[in-house]
Amino acid sequence: MKLNHIPILAQEIIEALAADPEKIFVDGTTGGAGHSGMILETKPKHLYSFDQDLEVIKRHQSTENWTLVHSNFRHIWDYCKENQIKINGGILLDLGLSSIQLDDPRRGFSFQQDCVLDMRMDQSLELTAANVVNQYSEKDLADLIYQYGEERKSRQIATAIVKNRPFETSAKLADLIKIIYARGSSGKTFRIHPATRTFQALRIEVNQELAALEELLELDFEVLQPGAVLAIISFHSLEDRLVKNSFKKYAAEGKLELICKKPITAGEIELENNPRSRSAKLRLARVK
Ligand SMILES: C[S@@+](CC[C@H](N)C(=O)[O-])C[C@H]1O[C@@H](n2cnc3c(N)ncnc32)[C@H](O)[C@@H]1O
Repeated sequence: MKLNHIPILAQEIIEALAADPEKIFVDGTTGGAGHSGMILETKPKHLYSFDQDLEVIKRHQSTENWTLVHSNFRHIWDYCKENQIKINGGILLDLGLSSIQLDDPRRGFSFQQDCVLDMRMDQSLELTAANVVNQYSEKDLADLIYQYGEERKSRQIATAIVKNRPFETSAKLADLIKIIYARGSSGKTFRIHPATRTFQALRIEVNQELAALEELLELDFEVLQPGAVLAIISFHSLEDRLVKNSFKKYAAEGKLELICKKPITAGEIELENNPRSRSAKLRLARVK
């Protein structure tokens, strides 16, 4: 398999997983299969690669030692039990969106181009970002933008959304948030687009991203075997906090050994070559 891009924190991941021919691995977030491809190059006994996005899964093909699974990673434990799989190599999660999703305007993740307010990673889900924006109460919108976006202007944004709905596409919403920020900013420019946090919040709500991660972090030690490594890359503090606290709890119970106390971040070269690596935090732990 040919890698078409260098996956995030590639070297760190492959060293930590130390893939070997006797071992079984799970990639919970296949995407463009950069990490999966790297693991496969080390010829593991088997790799199961999950993605909740059917379009992503359809881009790859299972082989003798590679099984693609169209499913949310929250179901890894059930899937492994049903199929009598014991994970003795490790599990990798590289959370968030792949460029396959981000670059496709039909999927509605980007506000850089005007696209439908969809944002479902799993196209079979019912709730879309348009449903959230157009149907949630002002209070629910304010709460979710505050909680999932860590947006300090959440109330103002929620009030403006309710006043100006319906919203069909992303540009109208992004422009509205820009106007709220422009008021009183006396022409100041912003490091990130002012709509970034609100769009993050909508995406987390539509895909129930934190709930899925919490469920996965209810580790199943019947499936996970001693020596298996958990490698989780997150991109915002809400996710990283969940991973950190869960690893800490299991370490205190003597079930996990923390491979590094602080999260691993990208080095200078990677930061220069891959802007997405800027906010990446990798936490590693080993099953005892
Ligand atoms: C950042 S990309 C992964 C990129 C991949 N590591 C690579 O090197 O090409 C994240 C992928 O995970 C998938 N994903 C996100 N949350 C998921 C979940 N809860 N269950 C299954 N797949 C998920 C997304 O659909 C997306 O394709």
